[in-house]
Amino acid sequence: MASELQPARGTHDLIGEDQRRYQHVVDTARRIAASYGFDEWATPIFEDTRVFARTLGETSDVVMKEMYSFEDRGGDSITLRPEFTAGVCRALVSNGLTQSLPQKVFLSGPVFRYDRPQKGRYRQFHQLDLEVLGSAEPLADAEVIACGWEIIKALGLADYVVLELNTLGDQESRQDYRGALVAYFSKHRDQLSADSQTRLERNPMRILDSKDERDRAIVANAPTINGFLTEPAAKFYARLQTHLDQFGVPFRENPRIVRGLDYYGHTAFEYITNKLGAQDAVGGGGRYDGLVEEMGGPSVPCVGWAMGIDRLALLLGDPPAVPASIAVIPIGDAAEPVALRLLQELRTLGIRAEMAYRGNLRRRMERANRIGARSAVIIGDDDIARGVAQVKDLQTGQQEAVALAEIAPKLR
Ligand code: HAM
Repeated sequence: MASELQPARGTHDLIGEDQRRYQHVVDTARRIAASYGFDEWATPIFEDTRVFARTLGETSDVVMKEMYSFEDRGGDSITLRPEFTAGVCRALVSNGLTQSLPQKVFLSGPVFRYDRPQKGRYRQFHQLDLEVLGSAEPLADAEVIACGWEIIKALGLADYVVLELNTLGDQESRQDYRGALVAYFSKHRDQLSADSQTRLERNPMRILDSKDERDRAIVANAPTINGFLTEPAAKFYARLQTHLDQFGVPFRENPRIVRGLDYYGHTAFEYITNKLGAQDAVGGGGRYDGLVEEMGGPSVPCVGWAMGIDRLALLLGDPPAVPASIAVIPIGDAAEPVALRLLQELRTLGIRAEMAYRGNLRRRMERANRIGARSAVIIGDDDIARGVAQVKDLQTGQQEAVALAEIAPKLR
């Protein structure tokens, strides 16, 4: 029975190389986010369902069919977070931080969506998340996007990823544009997919990013938002582009980027790759100026993004190597306490050092080779009497007697 248990559908274990790839992505992002002045937060993995249900958009796929929501034993409806942004806004309000703005925040960890699993798409996946809470300046949008681009560059992925940029305008722009879209798509209603016919009623902009071939043919000739932008919205978008140029961030405009969550206005962008098949977005985000207010706080303009760690990890070349160990090998009972002291000394210096829990010299040497140790320190009774141990370089095979007190500094 037990041997047949598999990870739940859409989840995966992170072990060995997979874990090193994951960790490398997080470490790199954390370092770069810190250099941009972002502080790290950690918010709960589950929240009151109301944090997500209305705020992400009642017609969004995430809310309609992908949330892990359930009643807990106390009868409260809770939801495993399907993203970070709503929880971050909730945290801003519940911690009374709406008076200390802007807040620049970085987070990372697991998120959950009941999605159809395939390569690069999971039910438990992991996100990096970056948010500026409390700035209405397009410079904030540009900085957020630049920081994301810097992370992609530092991971060695700049050749495989493009930044695609769009504006969703302000409310007035969107209202006019929406009207034009409804008029256009209504003319082609019968050719649209069933999903898009529903979207036409509820959220026509979402038809623009439909993956359905029939929809795509019609979307190709749909009006774009550019002709509907109010002057302030157009100005905002122009300033964002100027700042991106000043930051040295390359981008491509794509008027079809509308994003799958409903809280966006003005800036919308995605980091797209051509290397992961259908799951082509490694990250995405935009401006969301109404969310904090929906969470019961004051009006706080915000902008941010999230990236899929699992997708970034799939794109990485070789993961960073594990530093090679020192294998400490006592021969005989008297040598063991000496070996343990030496182990601790090495570890205190930050050197990876290991000792097998049991076994004779041959077995222990085999293990040292198997774990790829760079050196073995062999301690026998005679050595102890002389206050030395044999240090063997496992690459060259060279061996020499070294005074016990000098071993750790020498191997450092
Ligand atoms: P999102 O576009 O829903 O945005 O997700 C961001 C990224 O998470 C995607 O680009 C993708 O790389 C990854 N992702 C999404 N679903 C899956 C999945 N099922 N399996 C693996 N990876 C996945 C958000 O979540 C917004 N909260 C971003 C944001 C932050 N906007 C403003 N601030």
